[in-house]
Amino acid sequence: RILILDFGSQYTQLIARRVREIGVYCEIHPWDMEDEEIRIFHPHGIILSGGPETVTEGEAPTAPALVFELGVPVLGICYGMQTMAAQLGGKVENADHHEYGYAQVRARGHTRLLKDIEDHTSDEGYGLLDVWMSHGDRVVELPPGFKLMASTDAAPIAGMADDERGYYGLQFHPEVTHTRQGERILRRFIVDICGCEVLWTPDNIVEESIKAVREQVGDAEVLLGLSGGVDSSVVAALLHKAIGEQLTCVFVDTGLLRHQEGDQVMATFAEHMGVRVIRIDAEKRFLDALGSESDPEKKRKIIGNLFVEVFEEEANKLKNAQWLAQGTIYPDVIESAGAKTGKAHLIKSHHNVGGLPEHMKLKLLEPLRELFKDEVRKLGVELGLPYDMVYRHPFPGPGLGVRILGEVKKEYADILRLADHIFIEELRKQDLYDKTSQAFAVFLPVKSVGVTGDGRRYDYVVALRAVETIDFMTARWAHLPYEFLDHVSRRIINEIQGISRVTYDISGKPPATIEWE
Ligand code: XMP
Repeated sequence: RILILDFGSQYTQLIARRVREIGVYCEIHPWDMEDEEIRIFHPHGIILSGGPETVTEGEAPTAPALVFELGVPVLGICYGMQTMAAQLGGKVENADHHEYGYAQVRARGHTRLLKDIEDHTSDEGYGLLDVWMSHGDRVVELPPGFKLMASTDAAPIAGMADDERGYYGLQFHPEVTHTRQGERILRRFIVDICGCEVLWTPDNIVEESIKAVREQVGDAEVLLGLSGGVDSSVVAALLHKAIGEQLTCVFVDTGLLRHQEGDQVMATFAEHMGVRVIRIDAEKRFLDALGSESDPEKKRKIIGNLFVEVFEEEANKLKNAQWLAQGTIYPDVIESAGAKTGKAHLIKSHHNVGGLPEHMKLKLLEPLRELFKDEVRKLGVELGLPYDMVYRHPFPGPGLGVRILGEVKKEYADILRLADHIFIEELRKQDLYDKTSQAFAVFLPVKSVGVTGDGRRYDYVVALRAVETIDFMTARWAHLPYEFLDHVSRRIINEIQGISRVTYDISGKPPATIEWE
C-alpha cells in the first residue's frame, strides 16, 4: 500500500486514482500526518504530492522526518520534489521563469525510475518525454546521494534520483494524462521499486468489502435509502450480496423522478436481484408541500425536508434496524477532512439532499468510503448491475423540482419527463450519451406560439442542456451535431402534446450553472 501525503495540489486525488488504477491500494493523508499514524498505515512507498506553497518561503510545509527514516521508497512530485530536495540537503530557488503546461524534458535513462521510458529520442541520444509541467520554484542543487534524472532549459534539474534509497523527484506531473508516459512511470515506482503487488482489482474489492461488511454488522439489520443513483445502487447490490435478507431498502418516489425511473429501480433491485425494497409513492405529498412555491432554494429545502420525513416514517416501522447504510465515497471523505482542517485549497460545495437526522440512533455503515467514483462504477458492474445504470449521468437530489422553473405542477413534470426521455434516448441511440457528462431537459413555464398544419398552438417551451465537464465545477456546453439537435427537436414537438418550441442552452459554467435553478 502506498501513502500519499497531500501538500494541497489540485492533482492529489488524481495521483491516488492513478495508483489505484494500476491496482495498488493507497490513501491520501495531510502532509503533517502524525508519525504514529504513518507507522500504523505501514506504507510500502510514499508519494509527496504537489502543492501551492513555495519551499523558499518561511513557514512552508515539509514532509515528516519519519518519511525518510522508514527505509521505503519516496517519490516527490513538483512541490513534493522541492521539499524533498530542501529537506535532504539540496537547494531550491524561486525561479524567475515559471513553466506551466506542455514541456519536453530530456530524460537520462540511467535511473531505475526512467530506464527505457521515453516518447522520442533526441539527436544526442537522450530520451525525451512529453510532460505536463507546472511550477514556480526549481531545484538548483541536488541533495547528497542524488543524481540528475531529467532536465529542461527552464529547469535544469527537472528530475532527480537516488537509486540506492529509492528516492525520486519529478518536477512534472506523471499523474496527468498529458504526461504520456505518466502511467508507466508511476507503475515503475509502485510495482517495481516499492514492490507492491497488484491486488486492488474489482473482484478483490468486492470480496474484501463483503468480508468487512459482514464483520461490521454481524447479524444486525441494515436500512438503506435507495435513490436509484449510482452510489446508493452499488451499496444496495453490495449489501445484498454480503448480508442478503438483513438488508431493507426504502425507495421514496417523490414524483420528481425521470421517466419510468421508479419502475426501473423496482425491476432491477426487487424483481431481478431479489432485494427487499419498500417503495413509497409520495408524489402527492411532494407536490402538495411544494404548493405554489417558486423560489429555487426554498423548493430545495421543502423537498429535502420532506424526503427525510417520509424516509423516517418508514424507517421507524422497521424496529430491528440498527444500521443505516449510506453511499459516502472517498472524495466526500477527503473533502470533509480537508474542510475541517482548512487544508484543502479547493473545496467543492456540494448540495446533496440533507443528511438524515442524528436522532434516528442508527449506526452509520459506509461501505464505499474508501472508493473513488470510477471504482464504485467498476464495483457496480462486477456486482452485476446494468452498465447503463452504473454509468448514468448525475441527477440532482431535488430531481425535476429544480428542472421545472418556478412553480412545480404535475402537468409540467409529466411533459418534462417525456421530453427528457426523448433527448436521453436519442443521445444513447446515436452514441453521444457517454460523450456528454450530463444532459437533460428543462421545463420553461412560458407559452409560445406555433403552427401545426392549419392550426395555431400556444404551448410550453423546453430547453435542452448538455455539458462536458470533468469535475462539474466548470463545464462547456456540448457541441452536439445540428442534425442531432434537429432530430430531437422534431421528435419532441411532434410527439409531446403541450410543447411548441425547443431551445438549446449554449451557456458555459461559469457564468451559468449546469442546472437552471
Ligand atoms: P450546478 O447547477 O451547480 O450543478 O452547476 C453542478 C452539479 O450539481 C448538481 N446539482 C445538485 N445535486 N442537489 C444535488 O444533489 C442539488 O440541489 C443540486 N443542484 C445541482 C447538478 O446536477 C450538477 O451535476
